[in-house]
Amino acid sequence: MTDLSGFSAKHIVLGVTGGIAAYKACELARAMMRVGAEVQVVMTPAATAFVGPMTFQALTGRPVRIELLDPTAEAGMGHIELARWADLVVIAPCTANTLATLATGRADDLLTTVWLATPAPRCLAPAMNQQMWSDPTVTEHLQTLSHRGAHVLGPDSGIQACGDIGPGRLLEVPDLLDRLAAILSRGPLSGRHLVITAGPTHEPIDPVRYLGNRASGKMGYALASAAAQLGARVTLVSGPTALDCPRGVTRVAIETAMDMDRACQSLIEAATIDCFIGAAAVSDMRPAQVAPDKLKKGHDDLSHLTLVENPDIIEGIAQHPKRPTLVVGFAAETQAMLANAAAKRTRKQLDWICANDVSNGQVFGQETNCLHCLTADGQTTFGPGIKSDIARDLLLAIAIQLSVLKDTSCT
Ligand code: C5P
Repeated sequence: MTDLSGFSAKHIVLGVTGGIAAYKACELARAMMRVGAEVQVVMTPAATAFVGPMTFQALTGRPVRIELLDPTAEAGMGHIELARWADLVVIAPCTANTLATLATGRADDLLTTVWLATPAPRCLAPAMNQQMWSDPTVTEHLQTLSHRGAHVLGPDSGIQACGDIGPGRLLEVPDLLDRLAAILSRGPLSGRHLVITAGPTHEPIDPVRYLGNRASGKMGYALASAAAQLGARVTLVSGPTALDCPRGVTRVAIETAMDMDRACQSLIEAATIDCFIGAAAVSDMRPAQVAPDKLKKGHDDLSHLTLVENPDIIEGIAQHPKRPTLVVGFAAETQAMLANAAAKRTRKQLDWICANDVSNGQVFGQETNCLHCLTADGQTTFGPGIKSDIARDLLLAIAIQLSVLKDTSCT
């Protein structure tokens, strides 16, 4: 028997569309509640002709959501909050009409809007007459959605409500539960590859001394850990730190900015990266020459140290022909934080930049932070709070943005 404990305390948005199989969604809602999930039903207006919203309300203990622009419902949990509340969205049954809407990225009712806006795994269980099911447009829409990461559950084959025999029946509830349980054990960044840089770099002066900075790597490591927990494949390119590699993360340890640049370039050449996050405090310069032996007072000329510029790693990634879908930089500033960060975002051709105020010993080495994330469209603040919480919120926003950008690039 499948382990259904993954449903425990999970927030499930159950979308119900207007087909006769809508009656089976009552049983599905009940079954998910029984194994510990919280279920919020969202119906399309057409679905209400098949099952009354009161039935779902009684089964789930939550008023059913139907209208996109319902001031009463929006005063509680707005549609974007609902999309973020969800740990999983499943549309069962999903009609040919809703399939077409989802495949073309339209969001003309609450359910399709929540589908577009959620970072959670998205599942749909088609149910329709066998003749409709065999129409090539239905096949195309399903392929498009599946290609974009939607989980297609079923359909089953057999006797249909209309008397036909063939494929198009909604999967039986125990089967749906098993498949959803398997999907719940993954996260909203499942299937995504993130490369994150973290920590300081050390630029050697001689065999024992280096130019460094105060970065501890804690923010970058918190990001790597949160990304792995949300299901991403994570490569962490890390400068010297005292931190343990987070669970489920592949670490590439480097020392200098040049090493970090080479490591990032070879990662982008070798694989498709969905998102690059440059959280490292990379040294902008390095000694022009590394003394072969330890410099000695009274012996070597200590009157000057000639420096040369290091490559800008994130700028190189942003301009690469295999540019990741989303490139996110960090800007540690001590003055004119937002203006400096905005200028850096433009100059380095980044999608997002997270500005943080590092004046007066804040941030570096600390457990807390506050990020002001600047995008082409505006600004979002994450925190103040502990770095692990901020990392999770930023990664959830990244998960949403990746699904939006990938959806757009496919249409
Ligand atoms: O220009 P500045 O160093 O302030 O920009 C900070 C952002 O650029 C961070 O995301 C940092 O990781 C990245 N950076 C880089 N390569 C450098 C310097 C900074 O990738 N040489």
